[in-house]
Amino acid sequence: MDDKIKILRQKKAESLLGGGKDKQDKQHQAGKLTARERIELLLDKGSFQELDAFVTHQCTHFGMEDKRILGDGVVTGYGAVEGRLVYIFSQDFTVFGGSLGEAFANKICKVMDLAMKVGAPIIGINDSGGARIQEGVVSLGGYAEIFFRNVMASGVIPQISIIMGPCAGGAVYSPALTDFIVMVNNTSHMFITGPEVIKSVTNEEITFEQLGGAKTHNTRSGVAHFAGKDEKDSINILKRLLQFIPSNNMESPTYIKPKDKVDRMEMELLKVIPPNSNKPYDILDVIRYVVDGGGDGDFLEVHKEWAKNIVVGFARLNGHSVGVVGNQPAHLAGCLDINASIKGARFVRFCDAFNIPLVTFVDVPGFLPGSAQEYGGIIRNGAKLLYAYCEATVPKLTVITRKAYGGAYDVMCSKHIRADMNFAWPSAEIAVMGPDGAVNIVFRKEIAEAKDSKETRARLVAEYEEKFENPYIAAERGYIDEVIEPQETRPKLIVALESLLNKKETRPHKKHGNIPL
Ligand code: HXC
Repeated sequence: MDDKIKILRQKKAESLLGGGKDKQDKQHQAGKLTARERIELLLDKGSFQELDAFVTHQCTHFGMEDKRILGDGVVTGYGAVEGRLVYIFSQDFTVFGGSLGEAFANKICKVMDLAMKVGAPIIGINDSGGARIQEGVVSLGGYAEIFFRNVMASGVIPQISIIMGPCAGGAVYSPALTDFIVMVNNTSHMFITGPEVIKSVTNEEITFEQLGGAKTHNTRSGVAHFAGKDEKDSINILKRLLQFIPSNNMESPTYIKPKDKVDRMEMELLKVIPPNSNKPYDILDVIRYVVDGGGDGDFLEVHKEWAKNIVVGFARLNGHSVGVVGNQPAHLAGCLDINASIKGARFVRFCDAFNIPLVTFVDVPGFLPGSAQEYGGIIRNGAKLLYAYCEATVPKLTVITRKAYGGAYDVMCSKHIRADMNFAWPSAEIAVMGPDGAVNIVFRKEIAEAKDSKETRARLVAEYEEKFENPYIAAERGYIDEVIEPQETRPKLIVALESLLNKKETRPHKKHGNIPL
């Protein structure tokens, strides 16, 4: 027996080496950790259970039969993050550049299948040269097997991707199908076609970083949701994200006993809205003062650097995890545009899929005007946010802090699209449009014909402001359940949220809806 155990231990030691010490050193020199070091950072100490450590590829092309490495370029298994079960795969760049062949894909599929069976999140750490060229179409098939599983798992278990190296070609579509992508500044890159192909086809010169670095995907494309300053930071972001979400779509998100008071009256909220209603303010101040933690409340912002005119992220209200959506008056006056609608819709759908109640703060002057928006399909894209809110059946709470104009009023979780509780501050302005635009249209003739058209116009604007720029007409109809003082927002939201925790609402049975993509 001793001899047999010795062989086993030798094999295990061999598999731990991956592509060898030299390649591991090279990985470190590039500012990157190895596949196993990343797993160690992420999982609770000693919790990792590795599977398939002795799997090797079966390829016999290009001399590959002489190059078999135990584990074949991806480390897979399961373990715990802060005590909660997760399944994980971590691509090992030291083995054939982390490229994916049949055995590699099978290992990933195995942990994905297990995660689905038990209802636990799957975390993929990506660092790969893409399809293993020597295995040809078999690697393409392997990718497709993963893509299919990504889609089956969507909305059932949380899927989170961390990109910690190259992720190129069709390989990007597995992370793209997952719920969240975390990148690392400077060392991670995602693109469909790389700089060399781009140069040869379009003559455009571009670096890896400009094309597909963390900054690009967090600020311009919206492909990534988070960027860490280094690998450790990215892993910490992922751990924080996991704290807010349940392990599967049948569970409630985790509850964390709050340190903050339920009935905290936040007087700072009285100072947030500027006296001039066309002046900006930071909706993050409102969010942070309301959620658990007070002025420096615990708010994990998602897509922080992209489509800044809407803010989305996770927070807690009296210990309950909530998804927060807020128009951001400090950016584009908080108008909804194409990217903001997509960002909001994706977040709302994630929260709805995973039983996370939604809290929406509204200060929206409308949709962003302009031919660029119209040509880009603001109609189709704005409809995504409307669709997402309508289909969501989790508890939905809305607070109108200031403007709620036009179609954007309807879209931003209004009563009519089945919000459960709609609050408004006394500063709320709920109308079809702002006073200038409204008066120009309704009283065009009177203004043109008046002797003192300037004064007539000013009088009509003032009348409109007095009549419509308040929450009371909506409250008279019951569209607003309660007009509240700003400092009461936290206790009001908590009481409403807790009353709705057992909410049951259904939608008509269907194969699936047809969200305007
Ligand atoms: C096989 C690969 C590989 C691949 C890298 N390697 N990519 N082996 N298939 N796709 C090997 C290299 O031969 C090398 O082996 C080792 O990995 C490290 O690669 P280097 O080039 O030395 O590393 P580096 O200079 O850091 O460059 C990394 C890289 C580059 C940018 C990823 O390797 C690269 O451009 N690779 C090809 C990327 C690519 O075009 N992949 C196909 C994309 S299309 P040795 O033995 O020398 O150490 C695709 C389709 C997916 O993936 C479709 C899904 C539907």
